[in-house]
Amino acid sequence: MSATTVRDQSLSEEMIDATLADSFPASDPPSWTLGRDSYPEKEPATAMIETAKANSKEASIMNPNIGLSEEERVAVVKILNALLADEYVLYTKTRNYHWNVLGPQFNDLHKFFEEQYTELNVVVDDVAERARSLCGWSFGTLSEFSQHARLKEHPGQHPNAREMIANLLADHETIVRQLRKDLEAAEKHHDMGTNDFLTGLMEKHEKMAWMLRAFLQAESV
Ligand SMILES: [Fe+2]
Repeated sequence: MSATTVRDQSLSEEMIDATLADSFPASDPPSWTLGRDSYPEKEPATAMIETAKANSKEASIMNPNIGLSEEERVAVVKILNALLADEYVLYTKTRNYHWNVLGPQFNDLHKFFEEQYTELNVVVDDVAERARSLCGWSFGTLSEFSQHARLKEHPGQHPNAREMIANLLADHETIVRQLRKDLEAAEKHHDMGTNDFLTGLMEKHEKMAWMLRAFLQAESV
């Protein structure tokens, strides 16, 4: 190889190098152009694939693979949040009556209402955590509870002891009727876990309703 040929070859490489540098500005050069340290370590396409993989992994964590479709999970979480709102209202109403009950059976009813709101406190927690188990958000504010609850509150009213028991009984029975619909809906959405959970919850409300009914059957209340 002659010296001229070597010089021509050397010049040719410099020209190619300069052309590539012009084509790919130093501010955003592709890594495969000149191999300088300041360039990205990976080609953009490779980096994009790795980012997509990371996003996919994160998505799979947030969308559990438990045999329910996204639509089914969302539908069941909606049912659970509406129930949670009702449970929170009933918990609050029972606690209100624990504080404000009057009459000769004050001591019995004060303690009885405390037993019931303590049980409802556990129910509230269980319903919220069932929604979270399905990777849904649970309501957690008073405004959400009051906006979505189907049970009614009666601010400023102070019913007598018998009316308090009757109000609570009516609310428990309302929840039992709603739960019958909800557990069937959960089954329709192929969520047998929530179906079982709601069935157990319905039995709890039936038992609390029975205790309230037993109080009402006593003439003296
Ligand atoms: Fe108390």
